[in-house]
Amino acid sequence: MNRLEGKIAIITGAARGQGESEARLFAKEGAKVVLADRLDEEGQAVADEINKDVGDGTAIYLHLDISKEEEWGSAIETTIKTFGNPTVLVNNAAVLRPKSIADTSVDDYMFTFKVNQLGTFLGMKAVHAPMLEAGGGSIVNISSIDGLKSANGLISYSASKFAIRGMTKTAAIEWGHSNIRVNSIHPGGINTIMGNPSQNEMAETMPYKMHPIPRIGKPEEVANAVLFLASDEASYITGAELSVDGGWRAGEIIQGLPGVKEFETGYMYGQ
Ligand SMILES: NC(=O)c1ccc[n+]([C@@H]2O[C@H](COP(=O)([O-])OP(=O)(O)OC[C@H]3O[C@@H](n4cnc5c(N)ncnc54)[C@H](O)[C@@H]3O)[C@@H](O)[C@H]2O)c1
Repeated sequence: MNRLEGKIAIITGAARGQGESEARLFAKEGAKVVLADRLDEEGQAVADEINKDVGDGTAIYLHLDISKEEEWGSAIETTIKTFGNPTVLVNNAAVLRPKSIADTSVDDYMFTFKVNQLGTFLGMKAVHAPMLEAGGGSIVNISSIDGLKSANGLISYSASKFAIRGMTKTAAIEWGHSNIRVNSIHPGGINTIMGNPSQNEMAETMPYKMHPIPRIGKPEEVANAVLFLASDEASYITGAELSVDGGWRAGEIIQGLPGVKEFETGYMYGQ
């Protein structure tokens, strides 16, 4: 409780999925929360529930398309008027539209670029001055495991997520002296509309069976990591990459090699 007491947090893409979990957790931990999204009905409903559960005046919802600079201007203005200068930003909103390189048009590519990459840049730029005025803050940029490695079909998504990883480090270096920390989080498969579009039970385990933790992640599990980086508990951490991926990035189980009992059968190496 109260790990974010006194913080004023803007969370983009907070109408559903991981952003929603982060907003609920941040509010319980004492932050004032601004939920920003394009899904106005869903976002308003989450903010209303937070105010009911945690207390009136804890959260507001505002419409924000993160790819539009002018909308960031009014989002910051509303945040300051309502709660004060933002001290936490979670750049969480993103889009994923898998297509082969051959099928990706310039418009497809630019659509993903504008939301995921430009949107993250605009968010950091918009909060910088008010955070400085507040004496510092924490920015958490949500990249992906696909910002550390890639996969087929992810040309525009992976490019944007690698870019977020790099931009995070530039901002950490430029703003460390001003007491603004900037870190990236790299989720693996997470059980949201993006990570499991059909919300299918099979998809919660099957694709992950060779991973160290053989299941899809929960949005709450990412929210816990975001909370840590947003809080003063992470006061000496900046420019870091935190994977929340059940060990996916560490590697996969290889059938036939010893060490994981249920996969030790079949072809044995070294015989
Ligand atoms: N789910 C996964 O498996 C997974 C894996 C790795 C990384 N991620 C990343 O985690 C973050 C959260 O994703 P999620 O799983 O909750 O997905 P989601 O699709 O459930 O939620 C994304 C939210 O972002 C909002 N959004 C999209 N474009 C926007 C825009 N232009 N302006 C404002 N809001 C916008 C959507 O309306 C939605 O509410 C994203 O950055 C995503 O790339 C997700």
